[in-house]
Amino acid sequence: MRALRFEGEANVKVVDVPKPSIKNPTDALVRVTLSSVCGSDLHIYHGRIPGCEGTVLGHEFVGTVEDAGSEVRRFRPGDRVVSSFFSSCGHCFYCRRGWFNQCASKATFGYGVHFGALSGGQAEFVVVPLADHTLEPIPSDLSDEQAIFVGDILATGFFAAERAEIEAGDTVAVIGAGPVGLMSIMSAQLFGPARIFVVDMVDSRLELAQGMGAIPINAAQTEPVEAIQNATGGFGTDRSIEAVGLLPAIETAIPAPHGIWVAGDGVGRRAQDHAGAASNAASDRQP
Ligand SMILES: NC(=O)c1ccc[n+]([C@@H]2O[C@H](COP(=O)([O-])OP(=O)(O)OC[C@H]3O[C@@H](n4cnc5c(N)ncnc54)[C@H](O)[C@@H]3O)[C@@H](O)[C@H]2O)c1
Ligand SMILES: [Zn+2]
Ligand SMILES: [Zn+2]
Repeated sequence: MRALRFEGEANVKVVDVPKPSIKNPTDALVRVTLSSVCGSDLHIYHGRIPGCEGTVLGHEFVGTVEDAGSEVRRFRPGDRVVSSFFSSCGHCFYCRRGWFNQCASKATFGYGVHFGALSGGQAEFVVVPLADHTLEPIPSDLSDEQAIFVGDILATGFFAAERAEIEAGDTVAVIGAGPVGLMSIMSAQLFGPARIFVVDMVDSRLELAQGMGAIPINAAQTEPVEAIQNATGGFGTDRSIEAVGLLPAIETAIPAPHGIWVAGDGVGRRAQDHAGAASNAASDRQP
């Protein structure tokens, strides 16, 4: 089958690799009908994630079940499915508490040996472990293009907004207007904030965010913390969501005077200690 393989820094290739098959009774084999590139794939591409050489990339994909192991209960061949970007069992200590991304059996698709050595979905076929909990069925009225957001980007944006504990009337800063930032803005709006500022350097992305109702700040043209403070009577925002994954963005997210969460990378931290929050957010990076 054809697959996109990471060969080394700034080097990815479409190559022929053996078609995979299910190994465990809880696996499903999925024929991929749509996959996409996540901002987290850029960390691999730029050589920031060790242990990825030779990995078939991709952790956002939808497809059709081709084969299902004997213990897979929820899916049969022919079912349309969307995958989470990582596998989880649904019944370990962590999963029972809803902390699926801490699952004792977690592995991330296409993210190299340190994230579970799982082959990715930028391929014609992919094996999905723990299929009953890792996959979700796609309702017939949803297209692949709509469903693909569920497995990573939308879930991450919603998780960030939820962990930010936004209350009605709050002001919110979203740092980064990439897909995760845009989904964070959409999700934050569900909690009734008065204003959402969005910080990025790319005008086209800021325009998209503005179209969603956020107030754009171009960090290449103005100092963003100062701009937000000027617009809020010196107070800054009540909440912030860091959706970039780089230290300068975390530093922009931190100076809010009230309870603040650094939730980029889907990992929230209350920043009582600003420096601590920065290092937590940086070290908790996940796809
Ligand atoms: N579940 C998860 O934990 C999860 C899921 C998806 C993505 N991520 C992470 O979230 C981050 C964003 O993902 P994405 O797909 O939106 O990436 P992206 O690269 O498309 O978007 C990042 C945006 O940040 C902007 N940016 C860069 N430096 C900035 C700065 N200092 N201030 C403000 N904006 C800045 C860029 O111009 C870009 O528009 C990445 O680090 C990615 O790895 C985490
Ligand atoms: Zn689990
Ligand atoms: Zn991702």
